[in-house]
Amino acid sequence: MNIIDIINKKRTNNPLNYEELNYVVSHYLNGEILDCQMSSLLMAIVINGMNDEEIFNLTDIMLNSGDIIDLSKIKGIKVDKHSTGGVGDKTTLVLVPLVASCGVNVAKMSGRSLGHTGGTIDKLESISGFNVNLQNEEFVKQVNQIGCALVSQTANLAPADKKIYALRDMTATVESIPLIATSIMSKKLASGVDKIVIDVKVGHAAFMKNLEDAKTLAQLMVKIGQKYSKETICVLTNMEEPLGNNIGNSLEVLESIDTLNNHGPEDLTELVITLASLMVSIGKNISIDDAKKQVIENLQNGKAFEKFKELVAAQNGDINNIPVSEHIVSIKSQKTGFITKIDAYKLGMIERNMNTKFTENKTLIDPTVGFSLNKKVGDYVLENEEIIKVYLNDNNINVKEILDCFEINNSLENELPLIYDIIK
Ligand code: URA
Repeated sequence: MNIIDIINKKRTNNPLNYEELNYVVSHYLNGEILDCQMSSLLMAIVINGMNDEEIFNLTDIMLNSGDIIDLSKIKGIKVDKHSTGGVGDKTTLVLVPLVASCGVNVAKMSGRSLGHTGGTIDKLESISGFNVNLQNEEFVKQVNQIGCALVSQTANLAPADKKIYALRDMTATVESIPLIATSIMSKKLASGVDKIVIDVKVGHAAFMKNLEDAKTLAQLMVKIGQKYSKETICVLTNMEEPLGNNIGNSLEVLESIDTLNNHGPEDLTELVITLASLMVSIGKNISIDDAKKQVIENLQNGKAFEKFKELVAAQNGDINNIPVSEHIVSIKSQKTGFITKIDAYKLGMIERNMNTKFTENKTLIDPTVGFSLNKKVGDYVLENEEIIKVYLNDNNINVKEILDCFEINNSLENELPLIYDIIK
């Protein structure tokens, strides 16, 4: 077997069998297949797709490329949540303690930011002292003690995905339904959970740009879950504008705290209630309506926030120390009218450029910077009224570039729903 024949086979749109896919993954992991060869194969996959059998096989190979986490020592049904990635998406920070406060154990492993999308682990690290690197035994012990833990994926969880993902990020091969499905499901299945809820983002600031593609991806992931007897539910949600008002690590943690205290933005609160109700329903085998009652109650009675404080303390974080830049610039609208579009993709990219510095051997992240939107799509704004605040470090900002992210018109277009569909 050799990689050139395999690339040619896929380039001419012929399916790869298990042995060929296994050869590719194992030889790429050990360095015998080069990045240039792997990129070429990935591009052939992006262009020609994969059939279901190839997708199932690739998922299986990637999930078995590293450790399979054993969560059997955690009591009860373990429910996990994953998002395909968005801007301002701090849902996990609210969901984990909220669902745990309703009595469902959540052993959550998360990742860092990718492209224009934020990452839960970077957000958590904006809480001074928060330890995202628990050993497996500590992780299990903490979930048994307080009902939840939130940690960084261990280096050896689906390492094939880690290496392939980094290459996809650099070679414009992220936006492929088979590659996204195998990437997400290999990690989720290796993480040892029983049931999975996936937030599939749809829109210009998501990897899935339209509803049809998002449905295909969701149906595929549900099928993969079924193959491993792990109930998987996908919720298709709007990513045409940022979720909530804040973008930026510390700012997003602060907004999560507001939401846990039932004072969060409407869209984030609605999404959190939808996802948490599903997780509690499948975690406790109760109806969605009963689950939703508990979820709303725990947002209102302070139990969700109490659980968040317990989680932060258990992982050595100082909830009173979440620094935000004091250098704030208020940007005002130059027009009066309805906001018909906010370019979340561009705002995400500007924020990423503001917060990330690449040094020779390290990526440095400044958690204190970001944006806070004063207006969302559908709102009316007056000329000279504040539209967005920028929390800056020493960078210059391009006010025009930020204002160009907003479209303002005399009339409103049809409002899009936040939740498009639920696929099980
Ligand atoms: N999130 C993942 O984990 N993998 C992808 O390929 C895309 C989004």
